[in-house]
Amino acid sequence: MTFAWEKYIQEKLIDEDRLSARIQELGAQISKDYQDRDLLLLCILKGGVMFLTDLMRQITIPHEVDFLAVSSYDKGVRRSTGVVRIVKDLDKPIAGREILIVEDIIDSGHTLHYITRNLATRGPASLRICTLLNKPERREVDIAVDYIGFDIPDKFVFGFGLDVDEKFRELPFIGVVKPGIVVE
Ligand code: IMP
Ligand code: MG
Repeated sequence: MTFAWEKYIQEKLIDEDRLSARIQELGAQISKDYQDRDLLLLCILKGGVMFLTDLMRQITIPHEVDFLAVSSYDKGVRRSTGVVRIVKDLDKPIAGREILIVEDIIDSGHTLHYITRNLATRGPASLRICTLLNKPERREVDIAVDYIGFDIPDKFVFGFGLDVDEKFRELPFIGVVKPGIVVE
C-alpha cells in the first residue's frame, strides 16, 4: 500500500526554498549566540529529525546532539492529550550543559511544558527552545520560545518531519492537510 500525498494536501504552506533560507538564518543566529559555549542540541523525536539535520549543517560552531522521544498525541483528534510520557530518554546526563531543544512544532504547548519542566530538574546550565513551526493561536500553556522558524495559522500541517497518522514525514516541504481526512 502506498500513500500519495497529492491526495491529502489542501495547499503547500512553506516550500523548500523558504525552509532552507530560514534554517540558514536560524543556524547563523544560533552559531553567534552560542559562540564559545558547549552547545548540545536536543532533538524531540520523531518530528524534529529533518529540521535537526538541516539545522546542524547551518550551525558553524562545534556541537553535540542527543534525542528524546515522548508520546502525547491523540491520533484520532490530532491534538495533544496533555498527558506526556517519555518513550526514549536522553543517552547522557545534561547537568551543566547548554541545552537547545529542537522541535518540529509547538501547538498547545503541553508537550514542551512537560519536557522543559522535566529537563530543568536535571540541572542544565541553560535550557532554550528552537522550533521550526509555531501555532500561537492554539496555545494552552505559556512557553518561552527562543527561536521560531515560522508562525503558522491554526491548520494541521505535514511534511519536513511532521506526520499525518505517521505518514508523509519524508516530504521536503510543509503542506496543509485537507480537513477531516484520515490516512489509512
Ligand atoms: P503540543 O503539545 O500541543 O504543543 O503538540 C506538540 C506536538 O504535536 C508536536 O511535537 C507534533 O508532534 C504534534 N503536532 C501538533 N500540531 C501538528 C500539526 O499540525 N501536524 C503534525 N503534528 C502536529
Ligand atoms: Mg513533535
